[in-house]
Amino acid sequence: MSPLAPTELSDRAEKLIRGRHATRAFRPQAVPESTMRAIFSLAGAAPSNSNAQPWRVEVVSGATRERLADAVRAAHAEKRISVDFPYSDGMYSPVHQARRAAFGAELYGALGIGADDHEARAAYDAESLHFYGAPHAAFLFVTGDGGPRLAADVGAYMQTLLLAMAAYGVASCPQGLLSFYADTVRAELAVCEGKLLVSISFGYADEAAPVNRVTTGRAALEAVATFHG
Ligand SMILES: Cc1cc2nc3c(=O)[nH]c(=O)nc-3n(C[C@H](O)[C@H](O)[C@H](O)COP(=O)(O)O)c2cc1C
Repeated sequence: MSPLAPTELSDRAEKLIRGRHATRAFRPQAVPESTMRAIFSLAGAAPSNSNAQPWRVEVVSGATRERLADAVRAAHAEKRISVDFPYSDGMYSPVHQARRAAFGAELYGALGIGADDHEARAAYDAESLHFYGAPHAAFLFVTGDGGPRLAADVGAYMQTLLLAMAAYGVASCPQGLLSFYADTVRAELAVCEGKLLVSISFGYADEAAPVNRVTTGRAALEAVATFHG
């Protein structure tokens, strides 16, 4: 058998991994609890350094989701920003910045928002704090000292979670923006441990929404990988 011959599993992996996209408009229909349990149980199969599994996830739905969305939007309006993981635009290299700009042009273009319309972009970002209308959101915390190695493990958990969702027909959007309101999230959910890395909004996609047709490219393999030897 040629090493390139696809197998049933590789075909499915291609479909699952390449078929996952960030969704930014959802239908209100809730994900059944049994589906949620299956998804989060699968996500827990993610690898981590020494199998420490330094993640903690808080899932909000229903009235708690509403209350939290309102609290975060109030914090945003009052500029009560609190981050557990420092952020700066300066962390990106020029290559990263070019990719970010291309993505921004795609996203805001699909929304009919011009490149220089900073006000409309800010308004859309503020609106996104309502989880893009998703009926559920999962807040991913890094436990232990919350350092970069542990955060990397939680990144692996995040991708496993996103793929588990895709496998069950559940659409998702990671939202780093929510992590800018870490203290608000902690207070509303009475969470005492961990640093907030990211939030994942999830539910069933609104297939008719143009924003869900945004496509994102990727760098060529040669730009990111070197095969030695
Ligand atoms: C850690 C992380 C944070 C993200 N934060 C946001 C966000 O705040 N808002 C948003 O709309 N998308 C956010 N995204 C989604 C990215 O924009 C998206 O994954 C990227 O453009 C690639 O598109 P794709 O996921 O559809 O392949 C985030 C993704 C990751 C992994």
